[in-house]
Amino acid sequence: MGRVAIVTGGTRGIGAAIAKSLKEAGHDVAATYGGNDEAAKKFTDETGIQTFKFDVSDYEACKAGIEEVEGKMGPVEILVNNAGITADAPFHKMTPDQWNSVIGTNLTGVFNMTHNVWKGMRERGFGRVVTISSINGQKGQFGQANYAASKAGDLGFTKTLASEGASKGITVNAVCPGYIATDMVMKVPEKVRDQIVSQIPVGRLGEPEEIARCVSFLVSDDAGFITGATISANGGQYFP
Ligand code: CAA
Repeated sequence: MGRVAIVTGGTRGIGAAIAKSLKEAGHDVAATYGGNDEAAKKFTDETGIQTFKFDVSDYEACKAGIEEVEGKMGPVEILVNNAGITADAPFHKMTPDQWNSVIGTNLTGVFNMTHNVWKGMRERGFGRVVTISSINGQKGQFGQANYAASKAGDLGFTKTLASEGASKGITVNAVCPGYIATDMVMKVPEKVRDQIVSQIPVGRLGEPEEIARCVSFLVSDDAGFITGATISANGGQYFP
């Protein structure tokens, strides 16, 4: 059954793979993005998926953005919180800006988006919320106090909302990708990246589509008994 789905950060990387996979599953998909107009245009040209530009760290922008999506496409029944950023630095060098921007997008952004679809999902008695956390929210990572804290926060958020949404037909789950071949991971210095890949038992980075398939399953009607869960897709790098 086709439903209206929003994927934040849905024009590049893991988000783009998720948006495409939800479209293939028959859903009506809106992909949001924060700044890269060129990538968004290319994405729409290639996929036919509509894009909406707003900053997930801004509550009012999310409210207006979701209203725009709902005005064009109908009530949002599936939300995939995927938008995320890094600003890596060892803690002694990390600035308040690096802390606030990462928490603002990766954690407050998840609040801002979910809060603006939650009431409608409760009223209609159906919803699917999936948040893309990270292996580094599960295990911590040198140079990522901000990112790991935001992604660990996403897991606490997910479990809490799972308990609050269950009686209203809303499932809330998380996916924790390991290191996936995206721009974000390619930004890590090559030497550090090689060392990370050497710690992945399957011997390679993951592909965005491998995360998208987890999300497609979790938002499907078949997954109605799964809530508060975390799927770890990390090539065996970490067993939480
Ligand atoms: N473990 C232990 N020590 C480490 C280390 C590690 N992983 N990485 C660096 N160090 C040490 C260095 O050896 C160095 O030690 P000395 O001072 O004794 O020589 C010290 O830390 C400082 O190193 P640098 O001078 O290189 O520090 P820097 O200011 O340049 O910052 C860094 C280093 C930015 C943290 C860099 O190491 C880095 O980018 N690390 C990768 C972090 C990472 O994994 N990010 C993931 C991005 S992808 C993502 O987040 C997606 C996802 O969900 C998985």
